[in-house]
Amino acid sequence: MQYLEIKPNQKLSGEVRVSGAKNAALPLLASTILSSSTVNIGNLPNVVDINTLLKLLEMLGSKFEKKTHHIEINTTSINETKATYDIVKTMRASILVLGPLLSRFGHCEVSLPGGCAIGQRPVDLHLKALEQMGANIEIKNGYILATAPNGLQGATIVFDKVTVTGSENIIMAAALAHGETTIINAAKEPEVVQLCEVLKDAGLDISGIGTDTLKIVGTRQKLLEFKKFDVIPDRIEAGTYLCAAAATNSEITITHVNPSHLDSVLAKFEEMGFGIKSTESTITILPAQEIKPVNITTTEYPGFPTDMQAQFMAVAICANGTSIIDEKLFENRFMHVSELIRMGANIHLNGTVATITGTPNKLTGTDVMATDLRASSALIIAALVSNSTTNVHRIYHLDRGYEKLEEKFGNIGANILRKSE
Ligand code: EPZ
Repeated sequence: MQYLEIKPNQKLSGEVRVSGAKNAALPLLASTILSSSTVNIGNLPNVVDINTLLKLLEMLGSKFEKKTHHIEINTTSINETKATYDIVKTMRASILVLGPLLSRFGHCEVSLPGGCAIGQRPVDLHLKALEQMGANIEIKNGYILATAPNGLQGATIVFDKVTVTGSENIIMAAALAHGETTIINAAKEPEVVQLCEVLKDAGLDISGIGTDTLKIVGTRQKLLEFKKFDVIPDRIEAGTYLCAAAATNSEITITHVNPSHLDSVLAKFEEMGFGIKSTESTITILPAQEIKPVNITTTEYPGFPTDMQAQFMAVAICANGTSIIDEKLFENRFMHVSELIRMGANIHLNGTVATITGTPNKLTGTDVMATDLRASSALIIAALVSNSTTNVHRIYHLDRGYEKLEEKFGNIGANILRKSE
């Protein structure tokens, strides 16, 4: 097993180029199941989760030619509609093949994704919506057996909760359905917006893009003609590097990013006393005279993203004063807290609310264990400002969503080494 050795008391400077967004690339790759020909995708992030989904699409019969950040994929040769447990258990976002497979073929078997470190993460809203579109859903031996022998039918779907992959699954299901689908209370994340835009460019009649109400006129199982596109920048990767700069009170610039995707996050940096300068494709963060505490409640886009919660907790440790973070989306997304406390942080949990009493310059490095993708990045940020060396173990969590992490950190002056146990 590999781990990261992180030296203490670091300052950062320079530029980081963010990769394409993992959480955009995953639904976009799944959507190629709806394509009548080869799809040409650029700015693909080179991370484990993308390779896992490509392995699944290949197992189903897809063919592709992949370079590091570019792929040409053709799914017309798919001859299997079963997504097996061994793949789905390693990446729950594999559930994103359910909607397109069912809509195109009228049947599929997808393993129920287990929960994960951050919560039980059910898919009941995905399944309820597909049933409303005429699908017959049976759960058997841990698999979702879905059939729609006459194809899916358009319907009015009201999501009881905003669900990102639930919205994406139903958008893709509705694309080939017979009739019009209205999705009410749809997610509005930039990754959902890009999926809608790519499908619109492929000829789908879809309106309300970027709002919580989408109208989709299904093609009655006629495949779409995708145009070439690039995956949007990863706003969470960008936010993670900005948090590293904030915690170390350094100036860095993020390039190839879309600042408008981070409005709620940038506002919180400014609340804490940091300067933010943006252009069309860059964000520069400037040191604070004094790092002030912050209050954060995670919510759906465009509110403060849950995927930035752990990283901001690491920054809050460096503030003069007490911060409050309320995690509203996932029931167990404080796995990083116990590890941060082991490093000397003063954090008190009460249900979904974490109270962080700032202890600037008081963290001590030690051996810590990553538990999920974003918690791992919070441990790296805390390690950068600790007074002694930290070793972050189980970094396979990081490799799922952060491309060339120690190289990118190295480019801004961080001393992070990947070692083997
Ligand atoms: C997506 O997960 C992201 N993953 C997550 O990023 C992100 O944290 C999450 O959205 C919230 O923004 C991808 O896009 C691949 P949800 P998703 O369905 O779609 C409940 C990362 O770090 N819910 O929006 O699985 C659910 O339990 C990952 O990159 C149901 O109850 O999240 C949660 O409380 C982690 N029933 C809330 O809704 C359902 O059927 C939001 O979940 C579906 C969801």
